[in-house]
Amino acid sequence: MNERADLQAPKDITYRVRRFRPEEDQRPTWQTYRIACAPGMTVLDGLWLIKETMDPTLAFRASCRMGVCGSCGMLVNGKPRLACNTQIAELGSDIVTVAPLPNFDIVRDLVPDLCSMFDRHTALKPFLIRPDEQEQENPRGEYQQTTHDMEEYLQFSYCIKCGCCMAACPTLATDVLFSGPMPLSQAHRYNADSRDGGFDVRKEVLAGTQGPWRCHYAGECARVCPKGVDPAKAIQWMKREMMADLLGRRAPSAPAGLVTAPPAAKPRPGIPPAPARTVGA
Ligand code: FES
Repeated sequence: MNERADLQAPKDITYRVRRFRPEEDQRPTWQTYRIACAPGMTVLDGLWLIKETMDPTLAFRASCRMGVCGSCGMLVNGKPRLACNTQIAELGSDIVTVAPLPNFDIVRDLVPDLCSMFDRHTALKPFLIRPDEQEQENPRGEYQQTTHDMEEYLQFSYCIKCGCCMAACPTLATDVLFSGPMPLSQAHRYNADSRDGGFDVRKEVLAGTQGPWRCHYAGECARVCPKGVDPAKAIQWMKREMMADLLGRRAPSAPAGLVTAPPAAKPRPGIPPAPARTVGA
């Protein structure tokens, strides 16, 4: 077999999968499966192969299989990762050990119960808050924002809520009151948005025991984030904002207003009129 054919050849891989059905099992157990791993196969592909050809009772969560939906977060060879975004070959091992994300209750097998994360997320009001209640309920249009303003929060808006950062956080593992990296980074994502005026509202939660002051800056959340969000950075920036606020040095600015219509332009002579609209006319 030449070298190229060798690279294409399937390789035998052992999957060690943690199994647990809370309604039946006293404690989790490990189950082993052998699969032929083709080049390019992801950890999620391997789990589907097991489910479809060996064990239909295996439970895991996945949807988009392209690192977008955030469903397939799990502990792969000891690290929180997206199963669909992790090729088996990149693990550099013939053994793939898969377990549910730590710091969450388990629904079944590899499926974590993410409700605790989303409850904390919701408590921090992850949406634009406008000072005008009428405008909040019935927005009249788009708000102005420059490219520079957008860059203040863009990195944090890439979060897909997979829970990998929450699973990696050592503070969350020992402090059930802490909001955790995902909710806090998303609170900062909105606090840093020039269209938002909700800092004082979120501060009520952030200043308490759930807030950024409980973060010990281990930085594990930033290391495992599959989207490069860097929640640890968001939390440190949030601390800076809150300290400035505490000292009365935070300059609150009014949230950006509505985009105004550009001044009417005169068509240049010789340019024909635009064709009639075919959609939304
Ligand atoms: Fe959607 Fe993995 S299946 S992120």
